[in-house]
Amino acid sequence: MAPLLPTCAILTLVGAAAAQNATSTLSASATVNGSLVANPSAFATALQVDVDDLWNLFVGPVSSADITTTVAPTPVPSSELIPPPPLYYSPFPSGQQVPVIAKNESWGFPKDFWWGVASAAYQVEGAVQAEGRGPSIWDVLTHRVTDFVADNSTGDIADNQYYLYKQGQQWRLSWLAAINIARIAALGVPAYSFSISWSRIFPFGSGPVNEEAIAHYNDMIDTCIQYNVTPMVTLYHWDLPLVLQNTYGGWLSENIVNDFVAYARVAYARFGDRVNHWFTVNEPIVFCDMYPLPANYFKNTSITALHQPFVCGQNVLLAHAQAYRLGKSMMPGSTISFKNNGGYKIPLTNSSADAEAVQRAWDFNEGWFATPIFLTGDYPASLKSFVSTFLPAFTEEQKTLINGTSDVFAHDAYTSQFYFAPDDGIAACIANSSNPLYPSCANTSYAYSASDGGWLIGPAADPGSPWLHKATDWVPAFLRYIQDTWKPPGGVAVTEFGFAEPFEYSKKIRADILFDPIRSSYYHDYLQAILIAISEGVNVVGCLAWSLVDNLEWSTGYTVKFGMQYVNLTTQERYYKASFFTYVNAFQQYLAE
Ligand SMILES: *[C@@H]1O[C@H](CO)[C@@H](O)[C@H](O)[C@H]1NC(C)=O
Ligand SMILES: *[C@@H]1O[C@H](CO)[C@@H](O)[C@H](O)[C@H]1NC(C)=O
Ligand SMILES: *[C@@H]1O[C@H](CO)[C@@H](O)[C@H](O)[C@H]1NC(C)=O
Ligand SMILES: *[C@@H]1O[C@H](CO)[C@@H](O)[C@H](O)[C@H]1NC(C)=O
Ligand SMILES: *[C@@H]1O[C@H](CO)[C@@H](O)[C@H](O)[C@H]1NC(C)=O
Ligand SMILES: *[C@@H]1O[C@H](CO)[C@@H](O)[C@H](O)[C@H]1NC(C)=O
Ligand SMILES: *[C@@H]1O[C@H](CO)[C@@H](O)[C@H](O)[C@H]1NC(C)=O
Ligand SMILES: *[C@@H]1O[C@H](CO)[C@@H](O)[C@H](O)[C@H]1NC(C)=O
Ligand SMILES: *[C@@H]1O[C@H](CO)[C@@H](O)[C@H](O)[C@H]1NC(C)=O
Ligand SMILES: *[C@@H]1O[C@H](CO)[C@@H](O)[C@H](O)[C@H]1NC(C)=O
Repeated sequence: MAPLLPTCAILTLVGAAAAQNATSTLSASATVNGSLVANPSAFATALQVDVDDLWNLFVGPVSSADITTTVAPTPVPSSELIPPPPLYYSPFPSGQQVPVIAKNESWGFPKDFWWGVASAAYQVEGAVQAEGRGPSIWDVLTHRVTDFVADNSTGDIADNQYYLYKQGQQWRLSWLAAINIARIAALGVPAYSFSISWSRIFPFGSGPVNEEAIAHYNDMIDTCIQYNVTPMVTLYHWDLPLVLQNTYGGWLSENIVNDFVAYARVAYARFGDRVNHWFTVNEPIVFCDMYPLPANYFKNTSITALHQPFVCGQNVLLAHAQAYRLGKSMMPGSTISFKNNGGYKIPLTNSSADAEAVQRAWDFNEGWFATPIFLTGDYPASLKSFVSTFLPAFTEEQKTLINGTSDVFAHDAYTSQFYFAPDDGIAACIANSSNPLYPSCANTSYAYSASDGGWLIGPAADPGSPWLHKATDWVPAFLRYIQDTWKPPGGVAVTEFGFAEPFEYSKKIRADILFDPIRSSYYHDYLQAILIAISEGVNVVGCLAWSLVDNLEWSTGYTVKFGMQYVNLTTQERYYKASFFTYVNAFQQYLAE
């Protein structure tokens, strides 16, 4: 489907896509397709390219879904809504499950507690080249960077959430999106948190707006509302428009600030009449730590590898803060939050060195963004003493801009970890930039110390997600720590939590896949932990489970499963897993009327 939009922009392209002669670059683009030319730094020229050129130059051919295999949006059969029998733990009593324990009258989710399920654009949408979408860095990472993705898979089709046209008809029916939303509604889930693909709205990252993408997201949002599902929108979930990475280095350049704010303005203006819950950026600890991105595919930079994450972080703070203030001015009644991430940090021993390691770990992770945003407009002291050697200090004006720019402490809080001092001690590490733990100088482990038996903190997730262990016992302490440390005005929300059931990928029988005991116990115990935290006075205001469906789990491809629904990627059929019922059950039991 050819894009209907007037997508042209004057770009200065350097590196892999450029050639001596602009005319030949474009006319010969079929033979270029993103491969290297001999001496890319020698070439810099103004080219006029359209969206198709971007795909041809940087990504190459992409796959598209076979629409004839799609199932029509029929209602979810009631036979699919029967919960599974109890697992080995005590289930929340409800439905046909045997009530093993009585309801704990000390517990309850407040009436206005928002709960739901989450996804992100590149992981579920597919239809990557449809209706004028420009490529993002993830299209290049999945298509071009050797061995970047474990199973060499791409998001070309993914869960095909994006759309299927009913051919020849003018009206737009997002069949599969509607199926996703209908299946959320059928279990009584009241909220769906999804992200918008920036390069759908702005195929070049900035410049012309793609009205087809606006129409698509309008339809997504309207469909949510039609099904009584509250739409919650994340503006940036890692899928940076490729042009912004190629032209100025993406988040490494201050140019990103104006482009992000311009994108946010369009999203607020076009969707803000129906969307009240917004998240600006998702998990910058992760996406900033991805810098340096693989060389040879994107623009090179003179910023050293060690400094790049923190340059990214500085621009994230400025972009987020402006987008927050703009959003509050355009949509005064909305909730706009920054989406942070990380696990609870436990000292491995009672030594003062391990206590210091824990503090440094908070400072270099959550505190990197949360301390400026919730407390001071500036970095925590230990981080500041590092970044002040190469980053310009925030001006008083910038500090005022940044401070107080998140309504809720939105935290993606999957797990917990032990922290301890490096072998050489913290002081020696801070003085030695060659230490592998520099600059945070906090070592980590998922295992108790040998003197405590050396056991893991909890069951491991799939080997493809070595960062994840079930450690739900620590969740009440974690939520209290966030509240006490950063004092978020609108409370704390767990905006992602979930579990990759070990080896689910190697199961081939659907009935086996649907029974996911560790994920089920994770949700059961996690929700119980949230209830305990609430009963102890922590203002937890919402939670969003990751994820609605199995999806493209970034560099682990489709080999690691986080879905509460299994997706047969051949047919695009969805099936509820047992864990989805465990999740829903907690609210049936404990949500205040
Ligand atoms: C550009 O390259 C084409 C094909 O190699 C060639 O025919 C043309 O003369 C070149 N144009 C200029 C301005 O060098
Ligand atoms: C480059 O991409 C175009 C468009 O996707 C395709 O038609 C062409 O065969 C590709 N060329 C090579 C050399 O891979
Ligand atoms: C992915 O592709 C690379 C390069 O073509 C190849 O070496 C590797 O074996 C592939 N991996 C898988 C899991 O197919
Ligand atoms: C970046 O630098 C590397 C190493 O000098 C070089 O091989 C590569 O071609 C450069 N990439 C771009 C996009 O300029
Ligand atoms: C740490 O201190 C607490 C209380 O003082 C004690 O119960 C615990 O056993 C100590 N842990 C270690 C690893 O020494
Ligand atoms: C940051 O904002 C909070 C309230 O939003 C305020 O209490 C605090 O004093 C501010 N900090 C600075 C350094 O201005
Ligand atoms: C981090 O801890 C591991 C496990 O105890 C140890 O092997 C490693 O040397 C430590 N790393 C540093 C840099 O201290
Ligand atoms: C700095 O750390 C590196 C890597 O651990 C080590 O080889 C080196 O000896 C350390 N230098 C000093 C002065 O301790
Ligand atoms: C997925 O669908 C295909 C095609 O109908 C079928 O052959 C396969 O068994 C299904 N997979 C599972 C796990 O049900
Ligand atoms: C009920 O909840 C309270 C408060 O969290 C807790 O102290 C108590 O142990 C719970 N009772 C049961 C039976 O789980």
